[in-house]
Amino acid sequence: MATSPSFLLLSFFFFFFFFTTLPVSATDHIVGANRGWNPGINYTLWANNHTFYVGDYISFRYQKNQYNVFMVNQTGYDNCTTEGAIGNWTSGKDFILFNKTMRYYFICGNGQCMNGMKVSVFVHPLPSPPPSSSDQLHSTPKSAAPMILEHLGLKSLMLSFVFVLFGFVLV
Ligand SMILES: *[C@@H]1O[C@H](CO)[C@@H](O)[C@H](O)[C@H]1NC(C)=O
Ligand SMILES: *[C@@H]1O[C@H](CO)[C@@H](O)[C@H](O)[C@H]1NC(C)=O
Ligand SMILES: *[C@@H]1O[C@H](CO)[C@@H](O)[C@H](O)[C@H]1NC(C)=O
Ligand SMILES: *[C@@H]1O[C@H](CO)[C@@H](O)[C@H](O)[C@H]1NC(C)=O
Ligand SMILES: *[C@@H]1O[C@H](CO)[C@@H](O)[C@H](O)[C@H]1NC(C)=O
Ligand SMILES: *[C@@H]1O[C@H](CO)[C@@H](O)[C@H](O)[C@H]1NC(C)=O
Repeated sequence: MATSPSFLLLSFFFFFFFFTTLPVSATDHIVGANRGWNPGINYTLWANNHTFYVGDYISFRYQKNQYNVFMVNQTGYDNCTTEGAIGNWTSGKDFILFNKTMRYYFICGNGQCMNGMKVSVFVHPLPSPPPSSSDQLHSTPKSAAPMILEHLGLKSLMLSFVFVLFGFVLV
């Protein structure tokens, strides 16, 4: 049961275009990367190094029972207060979906906010496809296209490879 190269090629292109034209799985932004959610880290530097889009997740990894996560407004972020918090998480591995274009504020609610356990991120709308020529005057800059490729293309490419391999095993 040999798999013909043309079949593989066909699957590759099928999945490539399939996943390029559909929304793909979201990015999970792990706060602090391998340093996690802990005191003494400048999370502004971490946030500046990432671009967040609607549909992405932010995740907090920390010692359960020691720390926690509160979603607050700007006042809560600036003053390290959890009064009127919008939400709170305590599992030690919390995934939070960005479902809106806005600035999000998170702080730790046990006093460690004062020691840097606070992070604020701006969530961008998903880059839209280049507008039709009639809209071009006052809308998306030309750089939107590379952004889409950067955001969707690489993942689609990787997914395509996975599916091609998968198809190869099945055939
Ligand atoms: C974190 O880094 C940012 C950007 O360099 C800086 O403006 C800010 O003061 C730093 N925060 C702390 C608490 O050091
Ligand atoms: C920013 O991201 C790059 C590439 O992922 C990484 O090498 C670098 O350490 C990051 N810097 C910070 C401050 O997280
Ligand atoms: C936040 O802190 C500032 C000064 O630290 C204070 O003037 C302000 O009243 C505080 N706001 C709230 C809502 O507590
Ligand atoms: C944040 O929430 C607190 C408590 O609900 C409220 O007093 C404050 O005005 C809010 N601040 C902003 C900037 O919305
Ligand atoms: C945490 O959130 C839960 C609901 O998810 C709420 O009942 C509880 O009061 C919140 N805790 C604090 C300290 O705000
Ligand atoms: C967005 O997420 C927040 C908290 O994660 C949730 O309370 C809210 O219902 C969500 N909104 C929509 C439109 O899904």
